[in-house]
Amino acid sequence: MFVAPDLTKSSKADLYRELAAQCRALTDDETDRVANMANCAALIFNSVPRLNWAGFYLLKGGGLVLGPFQGRVACVRIPLGRGVCGMAAENHSTLRVADVTKFPGHIACDSASRSEIVVPLLTEDSHLIGVLDVDSPELDRFDADDEAGLSSIARIMAAKL
Ligand code: SME
Repeated sequence: MFVAPDLTKSSKADLYRELAAQCRALTDDETDRVANMANCAALIFNSVPRLNWAGFYLLKGGGLVLGPFQGRVACVRIPLGRGVCGMAAENHSTLRVADVTKFPGHIACDSASRSEIVVPLLTEDSHLIGVLDVDSPELDRFDADDEAGLSSIARIMAAKL
């Protein structure tokens, strides 16, 4: 049985180092992308404190489509360029939004969300695969350490998708 460690008392760098190792271990011997994304979403959601949503959107037919996630039901399709996910996807760049109510075009899937970070999933030659989206009910929840940690998890996952 896989037991997620209690990381609430670790330093942030330790937490993300451990999460990256767990993510690698969970996905190493598995090629099914849905299973890998599902476990990765569960790992993040249950290990990173103060989140209300963590999951994936994948590029399909020119837009983003909801993938495995943890949290409340979410909008299924997001056009490129729309909302935080669509902007991060279109620009191939991470977006860290301290207050989602101030982000033009933010798509409110869960009204509890106050801040959000979206990391693009890119192939080695920079083609878009999708995004990793993580939301918090707390304003300005995500700092540069969260961005670095979630980016390493996104790189591990991108290599498996
Ligand atoms: N808030 C996102 C939409 C996805 S949900 O947060 C899960 C956005 O504006 O892209």
